[in-house]
Amino acid sequence: MVEQRPALKGLLEQIVEIPFHPLADSLLIDPTRTHDAPSEEFRTLRTRLNHMQSQQGLHTLVVTSPSPAEGKSFAAANFAIAQSQLAGSMTLLADFDFRRPIVHNMFNVERSPGLTDYLLGKVPLHEAMRKVQGTNLVVMPAGESVVNPLELLNLREVGQLLEDLPSLFNWVVLDSPPLLFAADANLLSTISDGTLLVVRIGHTTIDSITRAMQSLSHDNVVGIVVNGARRGELYSKYTYYHTYYTPGEDKDAEEQEREADN
Ligand SMILES: Nc1ncnc2c1ncn2[C@@H]1O[C@H](COP(=O)(O)OP(=O)(O)O)[C@@H](O)[C@H]1O
Ligand SMILES: [Mg+2]
Repeated sequence: MVEQRPALKGLLEQIVEIPFHPLADSLLIDPTRTHDAPSEEFRTLRTRLNHMQSQQGLHTLVVTSPSPAEGKSFAAANFAIAQSQLAGSMTLLADFDFRRPIVHNMFNVERSPGLTDYLLGKVPLHEAMRKVQGTNLVVMPAGESVVNPLELLNLREVGQLLEDLPSLFNWVVLDSPPLLFAADANLLSTISDGTLLVVRIGHTTIDSITRAMQSLSHDNVVGIVVNGARRGELYSKYTYYHTYYTPGEDKDAEEQEREADN
């Protein structure tokens, strides 16, 4: 971890603790059960990104995708939880999707005070965060809704925050809006160490992946999470593409799975 900056000294001790009581359908790994390995997929993702971290300074990670509902928040939250299960790996999950924030719902906490409230100078940083009791996980909900998300993200404070946070957190995971629908994630990627792209089988098109990649002004993509794959599906590199060209390409993975089971 980088040397602790004076500005954030003592921050962790001031953060209010919350129990882990996620919504029943939030699909979150349990961060309090450090003895349970997270699902194989998130463990693999964790291992790969930790390997990259050991090779390059990779602490702040934007999780994004081309379009809505591809699993950005799902991947960001579970990646953050999987990281926090490692001893000594303080992890922050920050909701930078001011347009459709969801982290507070997943963790069943108030949306405010949160990130926007901090950026607008309404609360000190520690009040914008909640620490999940008995874990290495801190969540920062989005905060009050704002009319001008992009303007807020352009503030110098955002860049400063992302520079400072790694002095306290091994991983800072940023949930974000879709690349093709707002400039927010692109902007965030320029001030973060890496970008993790999520695509969803049966939902994301090749064209939107191409356009999303082209939209990034700073190419720091560290990997692509293929969400909604059936186990074993990815062993064939053609299966993924094949899914697109079969009839019913608009069906989501769950529907396809149900059909496959029938
Ligand atoms: N792998 C998955 N399996 C089952 N449901 C999923 C999966 N990934 C995402 N979902 C569900 O799909 C919906 C959209 O996911 P979300 O992470 O909110 O998307 P995004 O953040 O990209 O808009 C949510 O209801 C989420 O629980
Ligand atoms: Mg989301």
